[in-house]
Amino acid sequence: MLTLGIESSCDETAAAVLEGESTLLSNIIWDQTRIHSHYGGVVPELAGRSHVERIHLVIQQALEQAGVRLSDIDLIATTQGPGLIGSLLVGLNTAKAIAYSHDLPLVGINHLEGHLLAIFLQEPVEFPFICLIVSGGHTDLIRADGFSRYRLLGRTRDDAAGECYDKVAKMLGLGYPGGPIIDKMARSGNKTAVRFPRSYLEKGSLDFSFSGLKTSVKNYIARHPDQEKADVSASFQEAVVEVLTQKALLACRMENVPRLVVSGGVAANSRLRESIFSESATNKIQAWFPKPLFCTDNAAMIACAGYYRYKHVPDAVNGSRNMDAKANLNF
Ligand code: KG4
Ligand code: ZN
Repeated sequence: MLTLGIESSCDETAAAVLEGESTLLSNIIWDQTRIHSHYGGVVPELAGRSHVERIHLVIQQALEQAGVRLSDIDLIATTQGPGLIGSLLVGLNTAKAIAYSHDLPLVGINHLEGHLLAIFLQEPVEFPFICLIVSGGHTDLIRADGFSRYRLLGRTRDDAAGECYDKVAKMLGLGYPGGPIIDKMARSGNKTAVRFPRSYLEKGSLDFSFSGLKTSVKNYIARHPDQEKADVSASFQEAVVEVLTQKALLACRMENVPRLVVSGGVAANSRLRESIFSESATNKIQAWFPKPLFCTDNAAMIACAGYYRYKHVPDAVNGSRNMDAKANLNF
């Protein structure tokens, strides 16, 4: 079975061809960073326009690299939401057009389910497991009891972890997107140079809050303009990583589930990977991270989630040719 996955929820135009559940035949990602970096963040209007210009080329490349044609494809999976509405519509409408013209089944995928199942491209994880999704728009703790059987345990009450990385990088004048830059810069910094606040909220809460940390970094930079950027980066990162690690382990303990999957763009972070692997080993919890290419936005994870949805949800394709894009889709 061949699934064509399409993703255009934010600033990556992506298409992938997946054979069966995990044999990836192609994974094409057109990254718009160059367009948005000038503005220090994603400009929705420019993102939508760029998707329109690129989407057909990206799909064509995905088919070519896989050595297949549209007539060989058995299923189309496309991101339905959440994301930027103008961006989502491009991928969704392209997917609908292909489904109509080739009379193919179509499934709409929650982008977050794509992140949650990205690990299945590498290896299947036994249910139930806890998943920490950390991306530019989301910081969610989810309990997964089976395919399409998810329960939200906690989420950020303000900024997402990735958004916080991007904002702090902007304050330090490091460029966009900030996550990978701070990750690299922090390696040469002292993570105990500044003690930034860690927000744990009420005892036992699985929610997050990063806006106080962001303000604290902003005030610190204003008061100490000469402090090494590497030290500020490493100290900021330590505050984020510590809270993410402790809350993820708390979720495993509270739910009595010894399996943890970490996914989304921030899961590409080297310090977070190190911290989660080390703490989970101490607590007898098994932890998985998709490889960095599958953590940040891609269409392989959408194809993978599409395959499982098609197999496990009986009415997954019903009405999908008339579905709408949903900017605020949640679990
Ligand atoms: O999952 P993703 O590609 O897009 C969304 O669905 O939001 O996540 C993008 C976010 C950005 O905020 C980016 O700065 C962050 O992931 N990110 C990282 C790293 N790579 C990407 N954050 C920390 N360390 C990284 N290595
Ligand atoms: Zn994402």
